[in-house]
Amino acid sequence: MWPINNGKERIHQPNKSKLLLSQQEIKAIESWVSQMWTYQFYKTARQIVSTASKTLKFKYKMIGYGLNRVVYDLNNGYILKIALSEVGLISNANEAYIYNNCNKEVKKYLCPVKEYGLGWIIMKKVDTKVSIMEYTKLIKLELKFLRYGIIPIDLRLDNVGFNENNEMVVIDYGLFTMDLISPFLRRLVYPRANDR
Ligand SMILES: Nc1ncnc2c1ncn2[C@@H]1O[C@H](COP(=O)(O)OP(=O)(O)OP(=O)(O)O)[C@@H](O)[C@H]1O
Ligand SMILES: [Mg+2]
Repeated sequence: MWPINNGKERIHQPNKSKLLLSQQEIKAIESWVSQMWTYQFYKTARQIVSTASKTLKFKYKMIGYGLNRVVYDLNNGYILKIALSEVGLISNANEAYIYNNCNKEVKKYLCPVKEYGLGWIIMKKVDTKVSIMEYTKLIKLELKFLRYGIIPIDLRLDNVGFNENNEMVVIDYGLFTMDLISPFLRRLVYPRANDR
């Protein structure tokens, strides 16, 4: 069980997939996550990905990886991202949190999250071929997130794609920062006020 704090209540997410992953696949992810710490300090990203894929033994095609996550195509319109590092674990949790708690005006620009658990997240698969000419769309997107209180850290062309309606959506928002006005910061600004 792992908690996601949505600002109002704590939601406990059991490490189970209702729809898309088998119990055996979840066990393989758990096994990888429990040992990945030993690799992250002395191996290159490529070596960590190769070790992860040997441990996971998935039948799915690997369609990409970054510094923190390896990505598989589930062949049903969804992709599975698995953490390769502590930042990867946090990124998965952060994407699930942001997608489920952000303002609806910006939600449509985020690649939809279908399911998530400790170390993994399932998102819609989108077209990741993005031309450099789309740069102005990216800048407009950045302003939209800022307007709704989200700081879009690491927003770049590599981290966006196009959905079925040909709209630009962010596929990697693991480092985005929402909730700048957290209860902790509120207490600093209003020391005598109760949590509002
Ligand atoms: N929703 C998606 N649909 C299709 N491909 C995707 C999707 N999400 C990720 N990918 C592919 O997997 C790659 C790595 O994913 P992602 O950027 O989320 O990993 P990361 O480790 O967080 O990256 P970074 O190094 O930028 O931190 C992407 O560049 C893309 O090619
Ligand atoms: Mg990325």
